[in-house]
Amino acid sequence: MPTSDDTATKVPSFTLSASKPRDIAADVLLVNTTPAKGKNIELVAHGFTPAQMTRIQKDIVALGGTGKSGEVIKLVGVTGVKASVVIAVGLGDFRKNFDLEDFRQAIGTGVRALSGYKKVVISAGHAPDHIYSTVIAAGLSSYSFTKYLKKKGDGMPSAFVLAVPGEITSEFKSALAGAQAVVSSIYLTRDLINTPPNDLAPADLALAAKTAMAGLPVTVKIWDEKALKADGCGGILGVGLGSSRPPRLVKMTYSPKGATSHLSLVGKGITFDTGGISIKPASKMHEMKSDMSGAAAVIGAVQAIATLGLKVQVTGWIAIAENMPSGSAQRPGDVLTTFDGTTVEVLNTDAEGRLVLADAIGMSVTEKPDLMIDVATLTGAQRIALGRRMAGVMSNTDAARDQVVAAATKAGEEAWPMPLPKDLRETLKSETADIANIGDGLGGMLSAGVFLREFVPDSQAWVHIDVAGPAYNDAAPFGYTPKGGTGSMVRTFVEIAREMAN
Ligand code: BES
Ligand code: ZN
Ligand code: ZN
Repeated sequence: MPTSDDTATKVPSFTLSASKPRDIAADVLLVNTTPAKGKNIELVAHGFTPAQMTRIQKDIVALGGTGKSGEVIKLVGVTGVKASVVIAVGLGDFRKNFDLEDFRQAIGTGVRALSGYKKVVISAGHAPDHIYSTVIAAGLSSYSFTKYLKKKGDGMPSAFVLAVPGEITSEFKSALAGAQAVVSSIYLTRDLINTPPNDLAPADLALAAKTAMAGLPVTVKIWDEKALKADGCGGILGVGLGSSRPPRLVKMTYSPKGATSHLSLVGKGITFDTGGISIKPASKMHEMKSDMSGAAAVIGAVQAIATLGLKVQVTGWIAIAENMPSGSAQRPGDVLTTFDGTTVEVLNTDAEGRLVLADAIGMSVTEKPDLMIDVATLTGAQRIALGRRMAGVMSNTDAARDQVVAAATKAGEEAWPMPLPKDLRETLKSETADIANIGDGLGGMLSAGVFLREFVPDSQAWVHIDVAGPAYNDAAPFGYTPKGGTGSMVRTFVEIAREMAN
């Protein structure tokens, strides 16, 4: 199992210290720099004598340092510093325009350069949100998926000490603990996404959800193929037909005492998407192991929210199937009946995410949550429209859509509002069934959203997030984002839960 403690990617430890950063024994001391007047830079660090500051600043400049954002300069054997190496990470002109996300990206770029070093001291700021962001950035950039490697390599840092100037307050401690919980859940999400599809069948993903909630006040219910049939989940069953590994549906319920609002999260969990009979081209098909990123984000978010003990009811739904071509697979032209009784003509078996989501969304709306959000690697069109890093956000209400985009931005995740044009419903017309599962090819991200809207009553506030781009980084690492599974939307969901909590 990918989630058991012995095989999960290890989360680094984080501690606070009131000692001077230079006095703490470690492999690395991380300090920040910013451009200063003239050809100089300024060290953004505490606990140094003025003479030491000047000395280090001169050394950094001598090595070509300018303090620009994302710059990483290494100094070795700095007098008066216990750590063997000093890493100076540029923040750019942060005093002019201080943005926590720029800060996190810079810290992430610095920490990614620390492969091979175990213990890292960070000269941290004296504010809870600074500590929170430091842990998020250092934690997320230390991730590397090595489970399947015989030689694990040098490894990323395993221990961070945040040296803060002055007293360690209880706010600092809870900022650290809160960020640690989120980092840990994002590690779980990334591990699930990166796990090869031979080791993550639908039943494994369902079990991973259960394992992830162990010890937390979350109940987990799993539907197997028989139960799915009994409840009329024709979408999930139809997509799962081609696989020898049957589909699943999972419901996770977190219902703390005193909670007055209810958030529902619905994730697409295609453990592998070959396209089915409408098969995908071979190149890059292996990346479709990430087609369960929505499900993994929901598992990570529910785990984080329950660990943080936020006072909001959260129901996580994950619709899980493996989309394979075989003698038993569904065919283009098949008609299936979803949970709410809608008939769907499957004109393209590769548009399978919307079919499994139709059932899970249909079930979720019977509970009338205050807000329902689905998250899915739904369309290639999303990547074409918004690129690799930016999620597309659609909704049946402008207010809910804007709330999610704002929460994402606040959490440090890129997301952009997208429309659900009414005229696209026409393109989904079927001669045989209530609706077809593909449109005419134009506005593919939007027409997938319009299809999902069919299963949501107008009275239900609903947001659809297409994360086909940001869920899986198939390009070079950047900031605190490694290659592979990113954990996209976990932080956004935690932020929304915080806003809805009382
Ligand atoms: N899982 C894919 C979408 C996807 C593509 C995610 C690339 C991440 C990277 C989805 O199931 C799919 O194949 N969608 C089709 C829909 C089409 C047939 C209407 C697509 O986007 O081509
Ligand atoms: Zn597909
Ligand atoms: Zn898919």
